[in-house]
Parts: sequence; C-alpha cells; structure tokens
Amino acid sequence: MEYHAIILAAGQGKRMGAGKNKMFLNILDVPVVIHTLRAFEQDAACLGITLVINKAEQTVFKDLLEKFHVTKVQRIVNGGKERQDSVYSGLKAVSGEGIVLIHDGARPFIKKEQIADVVQSAASTGAAVLAVPVKDTIKKVESNKVIETVNRSSLWAVQTPQAFRLPLILQAHDYGRSINAEVTDDASLVELMGRDVAVVKGDYRNIKITTPEDLFFAEQYLRALKRGD
Ligand code: CTP
Ligand code: MG
Repeated sequence: MEYHAIILAAGQGKRMGAGKNKMFLNILDVPVVIHTLRAFEQDAACLGITLVINKAEQTVFKDLLEKFHVTKVQRIVNGGKERQDSVYSGLKAVSGEGIVLIHDGARPFIKKEQIADVVQSAASTGAAVLAVPVKDTIKKVESNKVIETVNRSSLWAVQTPQAFRLPLILQAHDYGRSINAEVTDDASLVELMGRDVAVVKGDYRNIKITTPEDLFFAEQYLRALKRGD
C-alpha cells in the first residue's frame, strides 16, 4: 500500500548532549538521518518524503542528501518549537486523501515490513501506531517515592512510524491546536477527538536514538546487520 512519509529532523537532541542535532551523529560513518531516510528510499511503497528540519541547518541537510544520493525527498520544510509543531508544518505541505506516515528521524532501524503493517492498518482504520509491550515494571514516582505500581499487562511503548489517513490527522492537529493540547505523539491527538487508534505490534529494535547509550547499541546492531546475523 502506497504512502507519503513525513520525516522529523527538526529537534535539538538535548538529551544526547552532543552539542549538535543528533541527526548528524554518525552510526558507522553514516549520519543517523541518512540511515532513516534510506529505509524509505529503499521501500517501493514510499511515494515521496517530506523532510522537516531546523531552518538554520538547511544547507547541512541539503549537502547530506546530495552526498548520500537520497532522491525521494520531495520537499524540505521548516519545523517548529515542539515536535507537534514540526509535524504540523509537514502535514500542511502534503496534499491528497491518502495515507501519510509520520516517522522520527531518530529511528534509523525501521523495517519495510513494519512500515507495510502500520500503513495497511491505517488504510483500513484511519489511524495506526507501532508499539511493543512494556518489559519493565513501571512505577509512578514522585520525589523519589513510589506512588503507584501500574499493571504492566496492558502497557505498550509506542513508537513511530504512526500512519493516518491525511484528512483525519490534519483534523486532529487542528483540533489539538484549538484546545492547546500538548502531546508527545500524533496518535494522542486522534484519541483526544474520541477516535480509535489501532495498535500494530512492532519490534524492540526500532529504538529512538535519544541518549549516548543508544548510539552504542546502534553501532553494535548495525555491525550485526552488516554481518548478516
Ligand atoms: N523533532 C522535531 N521538531 C521538534 C522536536 C523534535 O522535528 N521541535 C524530531 C526530532 O528531530 C526527532 C523526533 O522529533 O527525530 C523525536 O524527538 P526527540 O527524540 O525528542 O528528539 P529531540 O527533540 O531532538 O531530542 P531532545 O528531546 O533530547 O532534545
Ligand atoms: Mg524532544
């Protein structure tokens, strides 16, 4: 099933503490954002990519796309202060009624099969997310004291990509803006409208590069992939 991808790269990577946007950090000599873009570059069902970036980094991104021969980026748009502002910029630039997939530039290990699953689900339900069951016991903590232990059996850690019919996610973002909702993913806005979001089981390896340990894992994992393990 065909789709258009919005790839988010307009963050600052503060938790990585690298002093620059983590999109530009290398995993085995290739920048994080290029690994991510390649996943979509190599997926025939991806019709095109809207890349959302920081305005000040435009030249760096353009140079990288050229250097690594990325051809599917149809447009580069400027992101905003919060992630949801960046998504909104991306959505506004896309047209049509089809399936739009929203993906963190910081998740370089996304696989074609997972993309296909979440896109397929969104095509039939309107909104779908990839997620994995939580493995750790989760406790609610305040001032270093346990407030509550949450029953793990129904907890899932939600990832990207998240896929939607374009009119639905646009409506959800407009609604979210009208009530000043602050959310950390796009599906939350669909949920706020009282609409269902389907959950598709993803893969624990689809990590988000967030803190320095993640880069260590990423490098080892990529080495294993290259060896064909
Ligand atoms: N992102 C974005 N625009 C923002 C904030 C985040 O496009 N205003 C993107 C990031 O580039 C990243 C994805 O959203 O690919 C997920 O966000 P996160 O992991 O939080 O990245 P950063 O915001 O860059 O990192 P941090 O929160 O540590 O500063
Ligand atoms: Mg962030």
